[in-house]
Amino acid sequence: MKVITTIDEMQTIMNKERKNGKSIGYVPTMGFLHEGHLALMKQARKDNDLVVISIFVNPLQFGPNEDLDSYPRDFEHDSMLANEQHVDYIFYPSVKEMYPRPSSVTVTVNERTDVLCGKSRPGHFDGVATVLTKLFHIILPDRAYFGLKDAQQLAVVEGLVNDFHFPIEIIPVPIVRENDGLAKSSRNVRLTEKEREQAPVLYESLLHAERLILEGERDPKMISSVIEGMITENSDGVIDYIEMYSYPMLKELPSLQGKVIIALAVKFSNVRLIDNLILNLE
Ligand code: PAJ
Repeated sequence: MKVITTIDEMQTIMNKERKNGKSIGYVPTMGFLHEGHLALMKQARKDNDLVVISIFVNPLQFGPNEDLDSYPRDFEHDSMLANEQHVDYIFYPSVKEMYPRPSSVTVTVNERTDVLCGKSRPGHFDGVATVLTKLFHIILPDRAYFGLKDAQQLAVVEGLVNDFHFPIEIIPVPIVRENDGLAKSSRNVRLTEKEREQAPVLYESLLHAERLILEGERDPKMISSVIEGMITENSDGVIDYIEMYSYPMLKELPSLQGKVIIALAVKFSNVRLIDNLILNLE
């Protein structure tokens, strides 16, 4: 496994590998790797000759009051985990390398950003789309892997790749969870002990909603009030949103039908957690 820190070297190596006929699977991350990230690497390993990951905490996608400076980092541990997954290259650029000067061009996402995390994190998906446009051009992979944990991000990335004609196949990977159901996240380390005990209620409330829907309930307002009740009664978390939309277009639904996402975000004292469930309804 090789660690590469400059764009020049990364492009040179990728060009050479591509000329040698190697297929390239790419997993973009912000590091502090856990089993969610590893699942993407495992899938990439299965599908491709080479696996490239990037570790870059992208300042552009963090708002002024968000956790850019305190975002957890541990490159030594990350590279050990990547090595165990037989990753071939880690692209690990500095902020200076990626953004040597203020950008003269950035990407604006026009669809799917007025809901869910896009609404509570203005500019976030523009930052994601901008950095991915750069990273995709640097690596030019055949396939790129994204977790359904960030289902809105996945939908936005599919829009980016379609609209800008990136010759890259986007591969979705299911959410990896702790044994008690909590979706794995680099930010889970910021939960207090008590909050960590409460946090599984997020997924439990989604599963409860799924049961109600499968029993025939189709009213989004009714479902979201049940989820809200479960979370507020069983945790100190403050609800940021509980919303249901068509997936992947993220359009409002007066009544739940077709492919539907139930998504929520809950703020605990030091961390905001997200989770979701996607259902295929008749
Ligand atoms: P990051 O939060 O590090 O996540 C990298 C990838 O891992 C994303 O595709 C995310 O959906 C996936 N992932 C995280 N937790 C997961 C889980 N529990 N199960 C399955 N997949 C999971 O998302 C980003 O970084 C950034 O926005 C990035 C795309 C790298 C752009 O900066």
